[in-house]
Amino acid sequence: MKPKTIIEPFKIKSVEPIRFTTREEREKLLIDAGYNPFLLHADDVLIDLLTDSGTSAMSAKQWAGIMNGDESYAGSKSFYRFEEAVKKITGMKNIIPTHQGRAAEKILFSVVGGKGKFIPNNTHFDTTRANIEFTGAEAGDLLTEVGKHPEMRADFKGNMDVEKLEDYINEKGVENIPLCMITITNNSGGGQPVSMQNIRDVRAVCDKYNIPLFLDACRFAENAYFIKLREPGYSEKSVLEIAQEIFSYADGATMSAKKDALVNIGGFLALNDDNLAMEFRNLLIVTEGFPTYGGLAGRDLEAVAQGLEEVVDEHYLEYRIKSVEYLGNKLVEGGVPIIEPPGGHAIYIDAKRFLPDVSPDKYPGQSIVCELYLEGGVRAVEIGSVMFGKYNKNGKLIPAMMELVRMAIPRRVYTQSHVDFLIEIILEVYNTRKKLKGYKITYEAPMLRHFTARFEPVS
Ligand SMILES: Cc1ncc(COP(=O)(O)O)c(C=O)c1O
Repeated sequence: MKPKTIIEPFKIKSVEPIRFTTREEREKLLIDAGYNPFLLHADDVLIDLLTDSGTSAMSAKQWAGIMNGDESYAGSKSFYRFEEAVKKITGMKNIIPTHQGRAAEKILFSVVGGKGKFIPNNTHFDTTRANIEFTGAEAGDLLTEVGKHPEMRADFKGNMDVEKLEDYINEKGVENIPLCMITITNNSGGGQPVSMQNIRDVRAVCDKYNIPLFLDACRFAENAYFIKLREPGYSEKSVLEIAQEIFSYADGATMSAKKDALVNIGGFLALNDDNLAMEFRNLLIVTEGFPTYGGLAGRDLEAVAQGLEEVVDEHYLEYRIKSVEYLGNKLVEGGVPIIEPPGGHAIYIDAKRFLPDVSPDKYPGQSIVCELYLEGGVRAVEIGSVMFGKYNKNGKLIPAMMELVRMAIPRRVYTQSHVDFLIEIILEVYNTRKKLKGYKITYEAPMLRHFTARFEPVS
């Protein structure tokens, strides 16, 4: 018999206590933080779902790798172990370490970007978009229509719209498109996966116009596991084989190792083109470090190499994907509106449907985020008009397209009972939502205001 209960596929050897606070304490702490959970001390948070990036628990073997790290400036043995691990998955010729994902993006777009250039993607993550726009180039999001509807269920809501890609190439001019990107999974669209068929279709368009295809591969293993579960023809293949097939369609990739390499810091660029790789390495030396360490220590390279082996373990991925799905499904059963189906690394509450009477200028997502903290010491993040809202010339808010609350699940950090606790807290906030009236901003910085803004509740 195959047991129905999916267990955490690890034993816990080292624990980090979490601090319990009372509601009265949290009320005071939240006032001190200007009702902005970004400004809370992490120590005052019971369950921290701010991000899944760099928050993974490392394994005993990764910690052993930390002790084994070779800190030689050039040609360290840890680099060669790292290079081998990345090559095994990506099959790419040139592997260039960087200190995190955005450093890889910075190098890539400093070389291929610039004014008059256009970079299509399913949805650019915000650092990718920022690195493109910083060079004067333009970033285009060509997500399939179903990916834009939180309430619609589909297997591969991260897919790129291939017809739109062809129109985009013809409109912008093939000579102005240095590469096309696909982000797996699609973080900004709710952690939704991209199908192998879609990757093949995008590759075919790229081949037709002779455009290189790059992957933003932060969550390649989660994406590969979704393909195994959902795409015909892949159930018998291993996740490693599926990942290898994904990368076989690409000419290059950027990766934030802080996600699917299960480490707290790290990233890389991988690509086949030797001339481009030489340019990247030259820039790497100026900005990150010698090509065999990038911006990392030898010990970090060891941890990434080990993490890449562990992340394709299917017991791990089953636990990972099913625990996020379990959380999502319980919320849906309780009536809580979320982006459906649950994604790979996070659950996104649809704050517009959760609080239909709180208008965007009263920031419904922020209200939910604050109440989750007050009710249970849970920290989530608003992804709506606080983060993306703009003002028109009369100072009136132009709201974001969606009002979401993201609860990103750190890898291997929380157990089933933490998730059950979370469900209880979220359902309580949902069932008492009538008391939530919204917030107003009392201070905001001119850029990226969500990090430092201060708020007050409206009555
Ligand atoms: C899809 C995607 N690309 C790029 C990045 C940037 O990676 P990093 O935070 O390591 O710079 C992230 C980080 O969250 C991401 O989710």
